Amino acid sequence: MLRGPALACSLVLIASALTSIGGCKRDLGECNLDGQTTDGRAIPGPAAFDIASRVTDGLPMYEGQALVQSTCGDGTFCHAPAAVGANRVGVPAGLNFDVALACTVPFDDCDDQSPPYADRIGRLYGNQSSINSWAEGMIQEIRAGAMPPGEAGVLAENPTPWLRKDGESLLPSIRSEEGQEIVRNWLACQSPVIARTEIATSPEDELQPCASVDDEICVYSGPQGALPAPEWSEIYWSIMFTECVACHGPPNNNDDQNPNNPFGTRIPGGADPSGAAVEALDLSGFDKTNTSDWAGDSYPAVVNASAYTGGVCATFGTLVVPGVSDNSLLLDKMRNNPPACGTVMPPPGSIAEPLIQVVEDWIDLGAPDN
Ligand code: HEC
Repeated sequence: MLRGPALACSLVLIASALTSIGGCKRDLGECNLDGQTTDGRAIPGPAAFDIASRVTDGLPMYEGQALVQSTCGDGTFCHAPAAVGANRVGVPAGLNFDVALACTVPFDDCDDQSPPYADRIGRLYGNQSSINSWAEGMIQEIRAGAMPPGEAGVLAENPTPWLRKDGESLLPSIRSEEGQEIVRNWLACQSPVIARTEIATSPEDELQPCASVDDEICVYSGPQGALPAPEWSEIYWSIMFTECVACHGPPNNNDDQNPNNPFGTRIPGGADPSGAAVEALDLSGFDKTNTSDWAGDSYPAVVNASAYTGGVCATFGTLVVPGVSDNSLLLDKMRNNPPACGTVMPPPGSIAEPLIQVVEDWIDLGAPDN
């Protein structure tokens, strides 16, 4: 059962009829929901119900949802309700656009995480409606290049690529005309959101609807991509560098000389304005202009390393105890929400379980520096 954006649209029409001349989000142009009009005429261009899947873990989102989510703070910065103080980067209180899925584990386990599922789904729909009220302004700012804003926007962005439904091309940047057309159309269709996912039990299930609860939209995860091998260098490049160094590394404006940097020449770092993340754990390497050796360089910061004595985790043991994943704080911080100390990593917790499993396997294999 799909939540009806078309219906929502007509409700807005009724509600706004008194104050405006009407028209369904007229300024945003025509809405292409699924590639055709109700009378079966094909509409070209992106459709709001087109699903993209994140290349690292197959997380499904509507294309517009994925573009807005990964560039508006991704649950952590700027337009995220969880972002406070400097992490808001000046975004006014309440201007929240966090449309992350409310649950990514089997439905029965959704309430094992905090806050409860009902609260997370409330956050999702509340932020969806905030997007709908700001939609015209959003598309204007995006088109004018004012949002996402320059350097701060790049820092707060999650650069992990998304695969489009053809299974081959990647979602274009929100800074491109094509990306902006995807967002415009999604906004014109009242920004429909996928609310929940479950791991597909077979390849045939991938990106198919799973059982919905209370009309939320559930979609099975897409292809997992190739999971990294349980080796430190693979874990470093597919998880630590892409998801953690932004906060657990110092600011770095150098162009990277490493030809294998998944972000091109960009070196993440400096995204935690408090600096607490780098103090607690520095996952960057020695050469600040070439990240080639960063996996090996940062290995000692993780394996057999005690938690930072000046931090909230000071008395909570060792980040990685070789062979004993149960006693490894790093794994607890990535998997459990809430973890033994501080917050889940990366906040608000977006690493898929199959990837976390790889980290667990590596630790139980003795956490070698390979
Ligand atoms: C948005 C910023 C941010 C991101 C992204 C982030 N962290 Fe953190 N991390 C922090 C902050 C702030 C702290 C200190 C407070 C705490 O422990 O909760 C911290 C602490 C930690 C600690 C405790 C270290 C110690 O010695 O006390 C671990 C382990 C950790 N993070 C792992 C990770 C991993 C692994 C990732 C990526 C999967 C990650 N973090 C991504 C901000 C971040």
